[in-house]
Amino acid sequence: MSTALVILAAGKGTRMNSDLPKVLHPIAQAPMLAHAMRAGRALDPEHTVVVAGHGAEQVTKAVADIDPSAQVVLQTEQLGTAHAVDMARDTLNGFAGDVVVLYGDTPFISPDTLERMLAARAENDLVVLGFEAADPARYGRLVMQGDSLEKIVEFKDASDAERAITFCNSGLIACDNATLFDLIAKVGNENASGEYYLTDVVALAREQGLKVTAVSCDESETLGVNSRRDLAAADAVFQRTAREALLDLGVTLMAPETVYLAFDTVIGRDTVIEPNVVFGPGVTVESGATLRAFSHLEGCHVSRGGVIGPYARLRPGTELAEDVKVGNFVELKNAEVAEGAKVNHLSYIGDASIGAETNIGAGTITCNYDGVMKHRTEIGPRVFIGSNTCLVAPVKIGRDAMTATGTVVQKDVEAEALAIARVKQENKPGRAVKLFDMLKARKRKQQENA
Ligand code: UD1
Ligand code: MG
Repeated sequence: MSTALVILAAGKGTRMNSDLPKVLHPIAQAPMLAHAMRAGRALDPEHTVVVAGHGAEQVTKAVADIDPSAQVVLQTEQLGTAHAVDMARDTLNGFAGDVVVLYGDTPFISPDTLERMLAARAENDLVVLGFEAADPARYGRLVMQGDSLEKIVEFKDASDAERAITFCNSGLIACDNATLFDLIAKVGNENASGEYYLTDVVALAREQGLKVTAVSCDESETLGVNSRRDLAAADAVFQRTAREALLDLGVTLMAPETVYLAFDTVIGRDTVIEPNVVFGPGVTVESGATLRAFSHLEGCHVSRGGVIGPYARLRPGTELAEDVKVGNFVELKNAEVAEGAKVNHLSYIGDASIGAETNIGAGTITCNYDGVMKHRTEIGPRVFIGSNTCLVAPVKIGRDAMTATGTVVQKDVEAEALAIARVKQENKPGRAVKLFDMLKARKRKQQENA
């Protein structure tokens, strides 16, 4: 049976107090919406339809980045969740399969839960995802009769007896496409909010004698984000889960609660991560690497045996081969570093390639930007770059070459050559003492005049 996802993302998110549409606020550095879409992708959907409204332009752009095959439909007025799903009617017209409705602001639904919903769908006409709420607050209440879900009552419309129910509506439903849109066509808006409630499809289905049930999941999966506090809490939940997953995979986190992971961080077994390491998107670290304290990595790859930091910054496009060492206060960007090379102290290496076993001395700078364009620096294997070398790109350093300390390299250096470009040193005997005397006298005079 094929499936289609409809992801509701038109709401304003007033309580976020933000110019950014709510569903684009990031959790672990990916928009909330990306998490929801990712969960849905586990069902291998034939269609993914995102319903956008507030900030539709930004949401449309983000959707294209997350999943170019997804379609965006507009809900220009937010008249309720049933109305929102109805916006996908034309797109899904004629689709023979199940529709799963997800919320863009409910990022933690697990693939397993979605699969359980579809399994239940095989036995029922309509399936709703519910959860036992520790604090049912304003959630819709699921009114069950045995295994049958009779109706969903919104908090605002509920009687005292119904408000006492703790089995609550997550908002997710699964239903055959044709049946769902038939039911939605019958939903009215005579309720406390004057909205078209998606939840009303349950009672309508029951009136027609259809089989409706609820599948239950852990409350942590249905965690919804409505405020910055919720967002921070959701990020914390993500971090805790992701850290535990890494620990279980055999990664050492010396102080797990201080390591900040991105939604897509991949780390191999027996890698050791010291405290306060931050991962941006797109980082993969192979087995047996060491990431020392206070390092910041994004869009990069660290191979087996690499030792990074403390205080290193790896920016996008950094590719480190096996056993590379990157030391303190070193920044790498768009740089390939071959096996066994070392960049140990206080350097900036950008738009560059560094050969195997090459040593980059302290304070080396690739001058990659001329104010208008970026240029490459290519350094061969077994090169020794002296401390405080400036490499004015574009420039190439051949294999087994050397640069003298303090050299400003402006032209290519051939293999095995020594490049030295600095002013010759002169020592003037006794001149230091004379200078000191002169300067001290000047200072005395200034103090007298003050
Ligand atoms: C909804 C459910 C409630 C459930 C709760 C779970 C209904 C009527 N109520 O209530 O039973 O317990 O979610 O969190 O469905 N949206 C649109 N367009 C609209 C309205 C909403 O796209 O016109 C989107 C929102 O952006 C959001 C989602 O649908 O992602 C849910 O809407 P929201 O207004 O938060 O519904 P709740 O009142 O929380
Ligand atoms: Mg809500």
